[in-house]
Formats: sequence, structure tokens, C-alpha cells
Amino acid sequence: MDKTQLTKPLHIAIDGPVAAGKGTIAKRLAQELGFLYVDTGAMYRCSAVIALENNLSMEEEERIAGATDEADIEMYDRRNLETGEITTVVELNGADVTERIRLREIDRLVPKVAAMAKVRAVLVKKQQKIAVGKDVIMEGRDISSVVLPNADLKIFLTADVEERTRRRLLQYRERGNGMISYEEVKAELESRDEMDLNRKSDPLRQVTGAWLLDTTNIGIEEAAQMIAVKLKSMLK
Ligand code: DC
Repeated sequence: MDKTQLTKPLHIAIDGPVAAGKGTIAKRLAQELGFLYVDTGAMYRCSAVIALENNLSMEEEERIAGATDEADIEMYDRRNLETGEITTVVELNGADVTERIRLREIDRLVPKVAAMAKVRAVLVKKQQKIAVGKDVIMEGRDISSVVLPNADLKIFLTADVEERTRRRLLQYRERGNGMISYEEVKAELESRDEMDLNRKSDPLRQVTGAWLLDTTNIGIEEAAQMIAVKLKSMLK
């Protein structure tokens, strides 16, 4: 895509609930456009790992935020030479935590850490710093509302809870977590949605002007295509 005529970097914000397809879509678009992909959820997940590793309780917000502030969180793409599949590698203080941050213990802990205003302030600052001067596609819960309020395109991506449960179940099975039932995954997902939507600090919400894209029936492929078309028209 030709964006040589653009003078300022392009910021694309994608927000939405768990398993709406944000990661898949953002990653694909970033590759297609040559943009930097930023998974902000992975950063909250790193903060949950920090709390666990330092034996910090959920009452120790200040210390979790402090350790998160000091932490070095790096993300980069790695291509599997056999399958061609691209994984976003996440490193926390030099250690590869790509798989660890997706474990169910982290799934359960992360909404509590993400509800802490001090942790959010630290991570929002890190995320804003990453975006300075770069073309980025950033996904999370508060990107349009807090992190990049002046983003050039804001998308609120969603899907109904049954569809999101099916997608998350598939992801768990692919990672070898075959023992979890549909009902269990659905209950966990609903509880995480509840926490993300109702927390006091920067809850998940669709901002005015955001493009609401429901992927329940169209699927992730088609949604990615629709966004790509929109972006190309913006770049003309
Ligand atoms: O997208 P995810 O499931 O990896 O996000 C992990 C948690 O972090 C989830 O509880 C939502 C929260 N989160 C957030 O509060 N703000 C963001 N920008 C990204 C994620």
C-alpha cells in the first residue's frame, strides 16, 4: 500500500471484548500494511506475571505498578520457517513469556491487575511511548478512549458470547488445553467481560465515532477484509 503522501504516522485503535478477533485481525492488517502491531493485553498479562513472580497480593497495587514500571516488556514477530506462521514473541525482563502469559492462571488473574488504576497509568504511558512517530495498529480495551484518543481509525470489534466462547475454546485446544468444557470457558469469558466492562478505571466501552464491527456472522477473515478496504480508502 502506498502511503508515501502521508506526512504523519497512522494510528489505528481496535478495542473489544475477549476473543472478538482483535489480535488475529490486528496482526494480519499490520503485516499487510507494514505497521507495528501492539497487543496491549499482553502487557497487562506481563503485569500479572510480575505480581505472581514477586509474590505480590492483589492488595499491593503500588508495588505491582512499580515493578511493572521498571519492567522491560518487548514484543516482536517470529516466523515459523516450516509453517510460515507468525507469532508475536513477548519478553519480560529478557525472559520469553509468550506461552506463560496465555496460561489460564494468568487469564484469571489479569482482569484484577488490569483494574488497578496505578498499573493502567504505567502501561498507558508505555503504550503511548511505543506509538510515537510510528504507524501502529494497537488493540486492547481503552485504546480509542485513553491510549490513542486521536487515532485515525477507531474500531470496536465484537461478537456474541457463544461465538467468542467457541473461538476461545478452539485456542485452548490448539494449545493442548483439551480438558476445558464449553460451559467453563463461557463462564470465564462472561466473568472477564463483566470485570472489563464494570471496572472503575477506563472500562471497556465503545467511544463515539468508533466503527462497530460485529464478527459473529461475518467471521474474522471478512472483517479483516472490510477494515483493509476502509484503510485503503483512507490512504488514497
Ligand atoms: O486482550 P487480553 O485478553 O489479552 O487482555 C488481558 C486483560 O487485560 C483483560 O482482562 C483486559 C485487560 N486489558 C485492558 O484492561 N486494557 C487493555 N488495553 C488491554 C487489555
